[in-house]
Amino acid sequence: MGTALVTGASSGIGAEFARQLAARGHDLVLVARDRARLDAMAAELRALGRTVEILVADLAKANDTDRVAARLADPRHPVEVVINNAGFRVSSRLADPDVAEHDRALNVMVRAVLVLGGAAAKAMRPRGSGAIVNVASINGQLTLSGYSAIKAWVRVYSESLSNELRGSGVTVTALMPGWVRTEFHQRAGSTKGEAGRGGIPSFLWLEPELLVRDCLRDVDRGRVISIPTIRYKFLSWLVKHLPDATVRWVSRGISLSRSNAAAD
Ligand SMILES: NC(=O)c1ccc[n+]([C@@H]2O[C@H](COP(=O)([O-])OP(=O)(O)OC[C@H]3O[C@@H](n4cnc5c(N)ncnc54)[C@H](OP(=O)(O)O)[C@@H]3O)[C@@H](O)[C@H]2O)c1
Repeated sequence: MGTALVTGASSGIGAEFARQLAARGHDLVLVARDRARLDAMAAELRALGRTVEILVADLAKANDTDRVAARLADPRHPVEVVINNAGFRVSSRLADPDVAEHDRALNVMVRAVLVLGGAAAKAMRPRGSGAIVNVASINGQLTLSGYSAIKAWVRVYSESLSNELRGSGVTVTALMPGWVRTEFHQRAGSTKGEAGRGGIPSFLWLEPELLVRDCLRDVDRGRVISIPTIRYKFLSWLVKHLPDATVRWVSRGISLSRSNAAAD
């Protein structure tokens, strides 16, 4: 089955990718900052009989990203599947004078995706096989924040890389999750539970198991865009067909309800 490399494998969607890829028979390279959590994940996957490497890396740092890219380029230990998943919610507003969080977000969710996607494509193309998955977001179809802009970039980047690699045997898939039950929302400082996050209705919350299972099925089919569940496919279609001004109006409403929830 070959080796799969997953960034952000210590938690949430990335941990679930690691589990399901291991269950499919892949050996794993796990990437994140938290060594203790990566060790625990590696022990779980080794118990399934898989070979697991750990790369402790902060993808906000160019040197660390280069180390991961070097692993992808190693011809002696080829990587067949790359999941560019590491990320976090960006709370800073666009007009904040301090751009440190935006900088980190761009490094982790844009620069690292570009560098690792490029390294993977370069190694996979001559072999004539491989799969690259980049975790974008439905949020990227809205105009809510710097995070929306980043996730829109991930989708467009993935479609463009897919065009570049067309016919090579290497597939590229942008995964567009909606709201998923992971640590993402708590890490961003929500103390109100899922219903408190801007009043998101419970039927919109997804389990990582379902999201990843659907995504891997889309990867098997060579799909360029993977949107989980009929309800999110419909929402994505709707947003795509609304006038831009309406999308901005809806986005302003969501932003406002989020700031009100944060102020409560
Ligand atoms: N949950 C949602 O509702 C949702 C919706 C749409 C899209 N997404 C996207 O899904 C992806 C995974 O998020 P999640 O929901 O699984 O969140 P999560 O449970 O918080 O996991 C985030 C993962 O990213 C890693 N990470 C964060 N910063 C990193 C850095 N600087 N260097 C290396 N690794 C880093 C974390 O590991 P360490 O802390 O150990 O480094 C962790 O493994 C993200 O790209 C997110 O934008 C999530």
